Amino acid sequence: LATVRPDGRPAVRTVVFRGFLEGSEALQFTTDTRSEKCAHIEAGNGAAELAWYFPETQEQYRVQGTLRLITGAYSEEPSRPEAERALARARRIMWAKMSPSARMSWLWPTPRSTRTTAAAAATSESGGLTPEQEAEEAAVYKPAMPAPSQPAGRYPVSKYGPDDTGGMDPDSVEATGVPLGTFALLLLEPSEVDHLVLAGFPQRRTIYSRDTTTQAPPPPPPRRGWLARPVHP
Ligand SMILES: Cc1cc2nc3c(=O)[nH]c(=O)nc-3n(C[C@H](O)[C@H](O)[C@H](O)COP(=O)(O)O)c2cc1C
Repeated sequence: LATVRPDGRPAVRTVVFRGFLEGSEALQFTTDTRSEKCAHIEAGNGAAELAWYFPETQEQYRVQGTLRLITGAYSEEPSRPEAERALARARRIMWAKMSPSARMSWLWPTPRSTRTTAAAAATSESGGLTPEQEAEEAAVYKPAMPAPSQPAGRYPVSKYGPDDTGGMDPDSVEATGVPLGTFALLLLEPSEVDHLVLAGFPQRRTIYSRDTTTQAPPPPPPRRGWLARPVHP
């Protein structure tokens, strides 16, 4: 997933696809609000591109679009607009799907801040960590998760795969409570898809873009169609 740094240079990194946002074409990811990609989104217009290769079928997808960061600023309060509440709920459901050990990473020190623990300097040649270093590491990387604020309960292990957007047991969602403030649901709203099929001769390449000439009738979600244009590879 590539974003644009404030100085115009690209920044690219690997992320895990976590299914489509229910009832929409937006791709979902999770991230830490303190990571640099979030600053890129906030500093700019959210411009992004995703490259995804499927080796078994020899297909490449390049998805251009706009990133949207769903943070704790989105609220499920009844007074809030329906669209905001739906996104806040999607964030909470995604949080509930994270494994307990994955959730811990949102309590870790700021991504890319300098690591100063003694263990950071230790090498395997030096014979592993001393018990004191082990304890220091654990204090940083295995912090105690704050108790869920609503209702008091356990952190269930998610039995749902990352591509499962629906079907979350509402009880488990409630039991995990409010996501940590550093937890963000990241949405990529696609505007153009470049699809290349390598298998076969010649290769097939198709550009899918938003059909701005036709407007799907309401009710929401307001979804326009896609225009497919075959192009030379
Ligand atoms: C296999 C793999 C999966 C990853 N999945 C994610 C992810 O889902 N979300 C994420 O924020 N970072 C993920 N990362 C870490 C990012 O690649 C990146 O290092 C980190 O997000 C910091 O990026 P930034 O400084 O550009 O924000 C993953 C890394 C690897 C190697």
